[in-house]
Amino acid sequence: MTKHLDEARRILAANDRGGYTVPTDRLYPFQWNWDSAFVAMGFTTYDIDRAYRELERLIEGQWGDGIIPHIVFHQPSDTYFPGPGVWRTSHTVPTSGITQPPVFGMALRVVHDAAEQASIDNARTRTIALFEAALKWHRWWYAARDPDGTGLVALLHPWESGSDNSPAWDIALARVPTTTDTAVVRKDTGHVNADMRPRDEDYRRFVHLVDIYAACGWKPAKQWENAPFKIAEVQTTAILLKAGEDLEHLASVLGLDQACQELAAYNDRTRRALLAQWRPELSRFVSRDLISGADIAAPTQAGFIPLLALDLDPGMAGAAAAEMRLWSDGMKVGFPTTKPFVETFEPKRYWRGPSWAIINWLLIDGLARNGQADMAEALRTNTVDAIETEGFAEYFDPITGEGCGGLGFSWTAAAYLWLSGSMN
Ligand code: GLC
Repeated sequence: MTKHLDEARRILAANDRGGYTVPTDRLYPFQWNWDSAFVAMGFTTYDIDRAYRELERLIEGQWGDGIIPHIVFHQPSDTYFPGPGVWRTSHTVPTSGITQPPVFGMALRVVHDAAEQASIDNARTRTIALFEAALKWHRWWYAARDPDGTGLVALLHPWESGSDNSPAWDIALARVPTTTDTAVVRKDTGHVNADMRPRDEDYRRFVHLVDIYAACGWKPAKQWENAPFKIAEVQTTAILLKAGEDLEHLASVLGLDQACQELAAYNDRTRRALLAQWRPELSRFVSRDLISGADIAAPTQAGFIPLLALDLDPGMAGAAAAEMRLWSDGMKVGFPTTKPFVETFEPKRYWRGPSWAIINWLLIDGLARNGQADMAEALRTNTVDAIETEGFAEYFDPITGEGCGGLGFSWTAAAYLWLSGSMN
């Protein structure tokens, strides 16, 4: 175990580019939003100052309207597409124009608690600055991505989910044209096997959406009006709610009463809306396609992420856990991101089946919160074992356990530090 802990720390050090961590060399050469939040939590196990730094560098990319974009291009690199020239945003530190799941608030609570426990200098000041940024971002989520006040937030691009090519987007993405004036010069397939990556056709649709939003000048109201892809999504909403709870807690311990009330109101509304997305006949939660008005029935891990942020009654929690057990049955590494053996299941293709350590992390917390301690523990040891056997791969084939995608991956290292229980 010590050997693996050392290796995890070595990976984070090797991927350090000056206070922020790239997901992995070459394939992802910039700072990614939710990756950095997980990485910050990993750092708290041995370097709290560096954990704060990770979050501080991320908010250098925050815009005036509150969005924290999904990529911050701190330094140029020619090993990734699409770079700043394709995004056409106007922030001083170049960034993308879309966002990613707001794990940030969850990370901030973890970092703050660790700093308090270790009596770190300036912890309160550093936490407050980051808290203000997080609150601004949560306000952006509700204003820009839930203008009708439903309590569920919407994604305008599949990449915002962090689960880029999930089968959950197949129907909605098929409506997006493959046309684009932007030269689509993929770099990812030069680094890893094309069979493991999203298809070319998907890439053209991804870029078509970027073209549309760039033409809206990245103004949220205009984008909302013109978006051909709009999903009220349960994984992101659940993360927003969990982060919202953590920020509410921080506001209360820091004595920020007004912020505390504001967050409590967001959280109450979202809690009710998320609960209403439970489908008893599926034993999971579903997202809604806001263009067609239909539920998204595709069986993906997103359906169980709400356990992270809700206290379900025992009947519902038991049903969700039983369904999860069914999906994991016979798998070498849990938890598959698509239900095994349905037509869209591809065990090696990115978000269409593989197991991801950070998704497991969220599910473990959700299961533990909902009285499923044994299952949480089984998934935790399974994840730790997979990493010890295969190394710090981007993700794992759930059937064979094989490590796939990029290697020396930062969030897998962070998940290992966290899940192997190495707090010191
Ligand atoms: C891919 C993943 C996304 C992640 C990024 C960097 O785009 O789908 O979730 O943030 O890589 O690791």
